[in-house]
Amino acid sequence: MKRREFLSGVLGAATATLFARASVAGEAMPGMGNMGNMGGMAGMSGTSAEMPHAPAPLAAADALPAGAPLAALRTLANDSREAGVFRATLIAQPAPHALLPGVAPTTFWQYDGAQSSDHRGPVIGPLIDVREGDRVEIRFVNRLAQPSTIHWHGLPVPPDQDGNPSKPIEPGAEHTYRFTLPKGSAGTYWYHPHPHMLSAEQVFRGLAGPIVVRAADDPLAAWPERHLFVSDLKLAADGTIPANSMMDWMNGREGQFVLANGAREPHIEVVRDERWRVWNGCNARYLLLAFDDGRAFAQVGTDGGLLGAPREGVSSLLLAPGERAELIVRAGQGASAARLLAAQYDRRKMAMTHGSLPPTPMATLAQVKFAPQEASKALPAQLLPIERLVPSDVKKSVVFSEEMDMHAMHQPGASKRSMPQGMHFMINGESYDPARVTLTSRRNEVETWTIANQTDMDHPFHLHGTQFQVLARESGGQRIEETLLAWRDTVNVKPGESVHLATVQHEAGDRMFHCHILEHEDLGMMGTLRVI
Ligand code: C2O
Ligand code: CU
Ligand code: CU
Repeated sequence: MKRREFLSGVLGAATATLFARASVAGEAMPGMGNMGNMGGMAGMSGTSAEMPHAPAPLAAADALPAGAPLAALRTLANDSREAGVFRATLIAQPAPHALLPGVAPTTFWQYDGAQSSDHRGPVIGPLIDVREGDRVEIRFVNRLAQPSTIHWHGLPVPPDQDGNPSKPIEPGAEHTYRFTLPKGSAGTYWYHPHPHMLSAEQVFRGLAGPIVVRAADDPLAAWPERHLFVSDLKLAADGTIPANSMMDWMNGREGQFVLANGAREPHIEVVRDERWRVWNGCNARYLLLAFDDGRAFAQVGTDGGLLGAPREGVSSLLLAPGERAELIVRAGQGASAARLLAAQYDRRKMAMTHGSLPPTPMATLAQVKFAPQEASKALPAQLLPIERLVPSDVKKSVVFSEEMDMHAMHQPGASKRSMPQGMHFMINGESYDPARVTLTSRRNEVETWTIANQTDMDHPFHLHGTQFQVLARESGGQRIEETLLAWRDTVNVKPGESVHLATVQHEAGDRMFHCHILEHEDLGMMGTLRVI
């Protein structure tokens, strides 16, 4: 395995270690001048005024209230009266939310429908609730001070409707995205911006929302459904949302708050068995879902829809950034309570010197009360049969690598640039270049892709426009065949690991694939797949 490359420069190891330690503590970095301000984006009139010149102290970890009932997500209203047509407007705009007492409201950037600019509900974009076969037309209005797009994460939409970075919608401009949802596309998806080098910031400021595609023959249609959209928030004590620090760029941003439907540790009451859809909409935070009393749940779906059969007896499930899952959570046999956790998971975050940072501490996602229940509802033994993709002998190789040039990272003036210098996150040896085609595939040809992680930290691989099937994982010369046949569009790849998957694209055009730690995506861990 190729080790992480550090080209140590003028500052030497002592300063770098200090930097790493200060960042662990979540503090400003003493003696590092304006280093902490790296990544303040250029060209952000309108919002740049509120960006601090030195990193502001963060709000206390309990500064946001906890324990309110889980807010329902807003729903995007369908403006169409025609059967089978979903037509709506999504506006991306600054939105004030009064979060902290005694300071100015926090300005998020959020998606709103045309009717409502009511900013009292969750920041999470409104739920797009649609059906297989629907024709979808969404008019997107960009009221931000920078270009944006809407990407339909996981959905099989035409390449030119998928919000690629090559199709920016400029400030003040609008664009209507059009696609039809094919049979078999039922599942749990999301939408978020994908502009060149600006995706991380737009998502951490609030731009992301859920999509549910429903099937007429959904075997779980009668189950009560609950939605948990998990997001991450780094909030300064003065109520502002700080720009990315150098460590945020390197490891992906994790704030002091992890929120479910926009709130800290909301309260959920499970009075009957329920079907949960859970989204990891965080820039970089991994969610190892588990209840603190170890109780089991069932997994019934992944990114791209239902499994062939329920997986019973699951007590922890890892959702990497961008991933979704469908779960069955059962009411208790006696009244009880448990906390839904993002348990500790070590994704091998980097320090500024050789070695790793400690893992992110465990966080509570929700406080759950389980009402007593007589008998639990029977889950069908079979859900939806999944047809196994049979790969041709066409193979593709994707290699994640990284390079840290300490000299460039510490150059005077480096922090004045829009992106940190000297940090390279690469695919097949190169950072993303909009002018380059990384791989070429033929339409309707099932291929085997191998995603090899030659770095020292985890990276979630994501491919646009399709759902793939993981075939096997290989690590340290050992190959483990995947036993779970499932539709995914995002899969975690550990350091030194290779993940083999089967995938097929059905439409000609350019598709993106990238690490779904959004800072890494913006820094160039992304490639273009040309489908011919
Ligand atoms: Cu969710 Cu290319 O992204
Ligand atoms: Cu995507
Ligand atoms: Cu990454």
